[in-house]
Amino acid sequence: MLIKNDAAGVQAWSLACRAAGLRIGFVPTMGALHGGHAALLRAARAECDRVIASVFVNPLQFGPGEDFAAYPRPFERDKALCAEAGVDLLYHGNPEDFYPPGFRTEVRVRELGETLCGRARPGHFEGVCTVVAKLLLRTFPHRAYFGQKDYQQAAIIRRMAADLDIPAAIAVLPTVREPDGLAMSSRNAYLGPAERAAAPCIFRGLSAALARFAAGERGAGALVGTCRSVIAAEPAAAIEYVAAADAESLREYAVEERIGGRAVLAAAVRFGPARLIDNVLLEP
Ligand code: PAF
Repeated sequence: MLIKNDAAGVQAWSLACRAAGLRIGFVPTMGALHGGHAALLRAARAECDRVIASVFVNPLQFGPGEDFAAYPRPFERDKALCAEAGVDLLYHGNPEDFYPPGFRTEVRVRELGETLCGRARPGHFEGVCTVVAKLLLRTFPHRAYFGQKDYQQAAIIRRMAADLDIPAAIAVLPTVREPDGLAMSSRNAYLGPAERAAAPCIFRGLSAALARFAAGERGAGALVGTCRSVIAAEPAAAIEYVAAADAESLREYAVEERIGGRAVLAAAVRFGPARLIDNVLLEP
């Protein structure tokens, strides 16, 4: 496995692969890799000739007071996991390489970044889009892989790639869960034992709402309320939001509205220092 940390080196390698007619799969990450990332790498390995993974904790997507400094950075472990998963090129970026002095550009996808997580994290999706646009223009993948746990992120990136004519297919793979339903996340490492025991309530709440949806309930207020009440029963859980939104536009449904088309039911919940997110699709 090759390791590179400069844009020019990564671009040259990717362009040479393309020139040789090889299909590139790309998995962008912030490291602290887990089973969810492993599933993305496996899919990329199965579907493409060359696999690039990136590890870069992107300062632009963290707000003031968020966990940029604390974010886990177990690079040696990540490197071993990538090698084991058959990654050909590991791009280990650094802030100077991504944002040299004079850097001024920001990529914003209007509206989609302002609902759900965007409300509590202003600027977050601009930071994500800016770094992902740069990554896609450095790795030139045929296919880039994202997890459904970050549903809003994936929807925004798909929109951005289409709007900016970036010729990469955006693949979104199902959320990988622990046996008790907790979505795998690098931030699960922040959970103490009691918080870890409480955290599966997010998926229990989402699943309870999904069961009501499957039984015919279409009221946004009823579905959100079902999910909220399951999560709120856990004293360690502090709900940031539970919301139903249109699956494409991410417009949030008001409580009195009925769900009319494909929708996503999403939640962000804090357990001590960990802000965890999860979602399920509501497909009529
Ligand atoms: O999902 C993540 O880990 C990050 O938001 C991403 C896509 C690697 C951009 O920094």
